[in-house]
Amino acid sequence: MRQPPTILVVGGGGREHALVWALAGSPRRPVIISAPGNPGIADLARCVPVQADDIEGLVRLVQSERIDLTVVGPEKPLALGLADRLRALGHPVVGPSAAAAQIESSKQFAKELMTRAKIPTASAAIFEAAGPAIKYVKSRPMPVVIKADGLAQGKGVVIARSPQEAIRAIEQFMTAGVLGEAGHRILIEQFLVGDEITCMAVTDGLTIVPLLPAQDHKQLLDGGRGPNTGGMGAYAPVPFAPPALMARVEREVFQPLLAELNHMGIDYQGIIYAGLMLCRDGPYVLEFNCRLGDPEAQAVLPLLAGDVVDLCDAVAHGRLQTSDVRWRNESGVCIVLASEGYPDAPVTGRPVTGLAEANAIEGVQVFHAGTATVTGRVVTNGGRVFGVAAQAPTLQAALDRAYRAADLVRFEGKQFRRDIGARAIRSHTTLT
Ligand code: AMP
Ligand code: GLY
Repeated sequence: MRQPPTILVVGGGGREHALVWALAGSPRRPVIISAPGNPGIADLARCVPVQADDIEGLVRLVQSERIDLTVVGPEKPLALGLADRLRALGHPVVGPSAAAAQIESSKQFAKELMTRAKIPTASAAIFEAAGPAIKYVKSRPMPVVIKADGLAQGKGVVIARSPQEAIRAIEQFMTAGVLGEAGHRILIEQFLVGDEITCMAVTDGLTIVPLLPAQDHKQLLDGGRGPNTGGMGAYAPVPFAPPALMARVEREVFQPLLAELNHMGIDYQGIIYAGLMLCRDGPYVLEFNCRLGDPEAQAVLPLLAGDVVDLCDAVAHGRLQTSDVRWRNESGVCIVLASEGYPDAPVTGRPVTGLAEANAIEGVQVFHAGTATVTGRVVTNGGRVFGVAAQAPTLQAALDRAYRAADLVRFEGKQFRRDIGARAIRSHTTLT
């Protein structure tokens, strides 16, 4: 890599702000460009108005700006083949090919792969027509899980507690076509009970190294009530996912996944996200994603010790070593501040105050997710507006910092959960 390297970060959400922040902390002092970026990212990088799914525009940008390394945040450009295009032109990328991204873009692909690789996952049946799917659910114990095959921005999974609910979901996906192409094929899956955690890993296609386990909080309201969201907060590491369990996840999930991809002739350079259910007899995979989680990235990335630019470079060039991933001995959290009306109909355009005061707290970073600047002022511009991240020697101390900062950031209608990490604090108290 040239010194200093020029790095492109594709995307413009909270996850990408955390990525840019982590890269900007490198002693290599990289020049960072972000497409399209956001007002928070703009403090650390040059933002260019190329959208994250504009594959041709991104390829032109990499060429014209002589980018040394591209790091792709969201799944869409990966599913559309951005990494394939860039690699074919000789440009290093952190992010898998379209073929590999099918672990996220097709639940059928992921399920069949897991079955072949003997990775523990809920049993499932696949349907391409509503009639046989409806007949099948009538014979199944409730609840059942109905999943659209394709990318559905978090709207493709329904947990049906009665046959009527299941039939309604099947009709919505397959007959009414509410998810378009993504819902034309569905999986009907066994319902699993347990604690849900996120395990991400980095791989260069040969070596795979798990990151610290995290836990997301998907429901809007405290106590896991209310509608599902993109994620309202996260923390890492997870006390009830100790190193012995992570070793099992590596052995039973990540190693067989990589071996099966290799066997299929599919190379993978980037992040693998495994959503896991910790059941009584061990971890089961609920889903794979081909990218970092959002907001998990905002909790986990600030805990990385060592040079994140070097880590990304090693992934992109196929020379990753286990020792490249090292951690600070701290806990990390991220509290999502969302708009009034989120997730259904977020109200936007509300002025924001208190950002400087919140950012001034030691060990706190306010990552922008859905903001815009209007005549020099930051206003809300999305459902999830900020991810307030904090790190400290204990989870409780990190939460205290993050909540102090979350209270300082003000905009009308702000909603956030007060119980991020509460489950971990409780389990820790029980364990000690
Ligand atoms: P997915 O997009 O596949 O992760 O599903 C979204 C959410 O639905 C997950 O985060 C789980 O909370 C839940 N879920 C998915 N599959 C199952 C399952 N087989 N059993 C129980 N809950 C599930
Ligand atoms: N936080 C869940 C996800 O990124 O898919």
